[in-house]
Amino acid sequence: MRHVHRHKSHSSSQDTFIVTRYVHRHKIDSKMLRGSLVLLIVSTLELVLSQAPVDLCNGAIDVDGTSYKSHEECDKFIECSYDATGKQYGWVRQCSFGTYWNMDLLTCVAVDKAACTRDRCAGKPDGEIYPAANNCRGFWQCAGGKSQPQCCALDQMFDTALSACVADKQKTCKSTSCFPRFVVPTICDKEAIPGKPGFYNEVVSGWGKMERPCAPGTGFHQESCHCLNAVELSKVVRPCKPEIYLPFTTNHMDESGNEFHVKNTNVVVSNGMAYFDGNTSHLEIPRFTNIQHGTTIVINVKYQSNHNVIQGMSQAIVGNNGCSNIPTLLIAEDSSNVYIGVGTDNKTFAYTDLPQFGQDGETREIMYKFANGTLYGRMSAPTGQMSENSVAAPGNFRQARCALQVGFADDLVPFKGWIDELTVYLCDPAPTSA
Ligand SMILES: *[C@@H]1O[C@H](CO)[C@@H](O)[C@H](O)[C@H]1NC(C)=O
Ligand SMILES: *[C@@H]1O[C@H](CO)[C@@H](O)[C@H](O)[C@H]1NC(C)=O
Ligand SMILES: *[C@@H]1O[C@H](CO)[C@@H](O)[C@H](O)[C@H]1NC(C)=O
Repeated sequence: MRHVHRHKSHSSSQDTFIVTRYVHRHKIDSKMLRGSLVLLIVSTLELVLSQAPVDLCNGAIDVDGTSYKSHEECDKFIECSYDATGKQYGWVRQCSFGTYWNMDLLTCVAVDKAACTRDRCAGKPDGEIYPAANNCRGFWQCAGGKSQPQCCALDQMFDTALSACVADKQKTCKSTSCFPRFVVPTICDKEAIPGKPGFYNEVVSGWGKMERPCAPGTGFHQESCHCLNAVELSKVVRPCKPEIYLPFTTNHMDESGNEFHVKNTNVVVSNGMAYFDGNTSHLEIPRFTNIQHGTTIVINVKYQSNHNVIQGMSQAIVGNNGCSNIPTLLIAEDSSNVYIGVGTDNKTFAYTDLPQFGQDGETREIMYKFANGTLYGRMSAPTGQMSENSVAAPGNFRQARCALQVGFADDLVPFKGWIDELTVYLCDPAPTSA
């Protein structure tokens, strides 16, 4: 079913969340431990056990029944929830290497995008090093009073005792991906050479890396993968990258590089697809609780469902009205249409429909585009069948103070079917196509 290109390696999610469940240990059930990526770190467990749960969750900010709070260590956060008996419990969660918790965005973000006043490097001299909690190739180095993520070379690992990179003799660290998150990975066959701005290395098939010069007056620019002169450099437009990318390759996690937190409730990922049972399955993305007044939102969702059997109420595909609020973003379907809607600060809920087509088991792709004061939708299938529509939606996107939910929305039927891939942009990846 996975017919699309996947040139990324997905090992980075392995260090995504190291979950430390420390209270109500007896309540840990198989549901909580679903997924092979969940590791219990016993040492951290002991560290935090002394805190009473009530203290741990005090002051946490509630988002649809799950609350979040900063931790005293910048690269951790606290997530609190209620168990079936209504008792609150909390977890200390570890951000992946190179990221810090950001309370405004409710997710871990690259350290340069998070202001954490308790940075371990605050007041420390430049060059001081300390180990990374959850990456055997990674370490932190102080520069300007801030912790900067660094990586040992591929065949090396960070030795905590020596505080240095050493050869990874046992190959224990071999498959650990490590990259400092300042550099957004791009698909580029060239790489900058430190200290030689007028040159780059190019990977030539059969030859390996070859050093090449840029044209006179230009310097190599990694992000655009080109040699640019000063004028060109000043005009570099940041490429439109996904804010959230859920390919469901092996799990439900965000692989956009942002590694935004996605909370999974009963969604089962197998064969590169996510199955939603039409009852309790949904995904929740708290990062979208706080999107402020954007002018552009583009969502692409590839999915399969048997829309022909939907009776009465529509089923939710993506929405942000899972907490008894009015939606400001909605994608839903019934037997005759796909419905898309957006709420703007001009108080409109602009919506339109895309006539349904296709069979059970056939992948369809919906593009939802709110841009330039217009809401545009298009549904297409590999067969070439297509339907589209647009409606005026003046104003800026109105935030809903509710997480983005996949497969669930208040007053709609939960989604039953498969989602193959979901991508959310806060920019327009193809400005000319609509
Ligand atoms: C829906 O989920 C609830 C709670 O898990 C369960 O009790 C119920 O039987 C489920 N209904 C269906 C139709 O599967
Ligand atoms: C936005 O829409 C207006 C009116 O339809 C059009 O003139 C303008 O070119 C559009 N801008 C972009 C960036 O698409
Ligand atoms: C808001 O909507 C009204 C009526 O649809 C329109 O007259 C007005 O110009 C809109 N305002 C903005 C800021 O788009």
